[in-house]
Amino acid sequence: MTSIWSFIKTRLGRAGGAMAAIDEQNLPQHVAIIMDGNGRWAQRRALPRIAGHRAGARIVRAIVQEAARLKIKFLTLYAFSAENWRRPKAEVGGLMKLFEEILRSELDELHGNNIRIKVIGELSGIADGARLQFEKAIEQTAANTGMALIIALNYGGRADILRVVNELIKAGRSDTGAAEVDEARFGARLATASIPDPELLIRTSGEMRLSNFLIWESAYSEFLSTPVLWPDFSADDFRAALGEYQRRDRRFGGLSGPPSEN
Ligand code: FPP
Repeated sequence: MTSIWSFIKTRLGRAGGAMAAIDEQNLPQHVAIIMDGNGRWAQRRALPRIAGHRAGARIVRAIVQEAARLKIKFLTLYAFSAENWRRPKAEVGGLMKLFEEILRSELDELHGNNIRIKVIGELSGIADGARLQFEKAIEQTAANTGMALIIALNYGGRADILRVVNELIKAGRSDTGAAEVDEARFGARLATASIPDPELLIRTSGEMRLSNFLIWESAYSEFLSTPVLWPDFSADDFRAALGEYQRRDRRFGGLSGPPSEN
């Protein structure tokens, strides 16, 4: 497995300005990102945490642009976890306001670029202002055929799995039409139904956890942790992550190379 250090070396090696080389014909369909480190970025500058989130939101714009340019089909961003409600009230309120502002200012451009917006998570629990903007964005972009930008909002992987389990219990055997539930039937009820599993999952700020993000869907995702804090992450770092993904040997529990006969 390629280490964090090779990622740093790649980053330093490009300090002269060259863009990370990737094979644009061989990209993952779905990239998921845990955007971490906004708070530390702000703290290092003696700024309030919300300033880190604001800086992070500018990076969202750059990464969405680059992903759409590369024709990545699905980009999922972990914007607010079901556990993030434990943060100070002022930070949660500031984030809700920020979501609302971003959508208000970016929706037309996203729509103009044929991007479809989707939310996974309990949108009903989100503050009215932000919720209404998200609902408007989902509705306005529903027929778009370009990249799907999936925002995980008030999202928790375990909660999503439990929701499906409870739905299946309620539905009972007769409604589900099957004696047993298999992966396909289960997956078809998750918030990510109809979205392929992410081939690549990136987490910024050096943390090595999934933090309840896409825990079913990421079973075989390539995980890449970069020490770069989210507000410092760039389109070129995104390309470097894609380059590293392309160098990984994905085996899905089998062996690399062509299947052998015995
Ligand atoms: C984690 O960093 C970041 C968040 C919980 C919020 C991320 C949200 C944005 C960047 C805005 C995106 C907006 C849209 C609409 C997608 P942290 O606060 O946990 O950082 P720390 O670990 O350094 O404290």
